[in-house]
Amino acid sequence: MNNFESLAFGRRSIRKFQDKDIPLSDIDEIIRIATSAPSGCNSQCWRFIAIKDKAVIQSISDAVIQGIEALLEEKKDELPENYLNSKRKMVSFFVNAPVVIAVFMTKLDYYDPLVTSALESKGYTYEETMKFFAYPDILSIGAAIQNLLLAVHEKGYGACWMNEPAVAGDEIRKILGENEESRFMSLIPVGIPAYVPRAKQMKDITKVYKTI
Ligand SMILES: Cc1cc2nc3c(=O)[nH]c(=O)nc-3n(C[C@H](O)[C@H](O)[C@H](O)COP(=O)(O)O)c2cc1C
Repeated sequence: MNNFESLAFGRRSIRKFQDKDIPLSDIDEIIRIATSAPSGCNSQCWRFIAIKDKAVIQSISDAVIQGIEALLEEKKDELPENYLNSKRKMVSFFVNAPVVIAVFMTKLDYYDPLVTSALESKGYTYEETMKFFAYPDILSIGAAIQNLLLAVHEKGYGACWMNEPAVAGDEIRKILGENEESRFMSLIPVGIPAYVPRAKQMKDITKVYKTI
């Protein structure tokens, strides 16, 4: 395997971290590498917040747990025993990471005003315009996060891309002091891995790739 191939295949989601700090200078570098990602219309429509403050991480965790409990409230009679306890842990394991990175999405300005105005005259809202172009704003966030994860792995740290905290996306945005134009997208706990993950099941390449 070449260096990039082993970096890409060696990156895995890590959900338990050693109780050791990691230097903020490494996080600064990881975020700088994340921002080198391509983005629709070069919008760089992302914002990253690296959180080391334990009290802030705890209040995000509380908000996520409340969010998942509120969501499941109407199903409470159907939940298997211990389901809620293990779900609470699954959505909040980031609380034990030395650093948690929150990723927000900002507005993407489409580069061609004529195209935008043609869509506007058809009655397209901003959200519908993004959908029309297959969500370039969300794709850009994904590109930046993948860069971030590879940079984390290259430095010998572990991380996990987490979307479930979006159940409390608005609360997280408020806790972190972001305005309403920033949309919460993901949380990424980062730390020194406390275990080696099991090999991952991969789909056969012929199921996901063909040449014509
Ligand atoms: C968009 C996205 C959202 C994810 N959200 C979560 C999450 O909320 N919680 C979690 O534990 N893992 C989450 N993951 C991690 C996936 O479960 C993981 O990437 C997948 O099982 C493959 O394992 P690997 O990352 O070790 O290759 C997410 C991954 C992606 C790409």
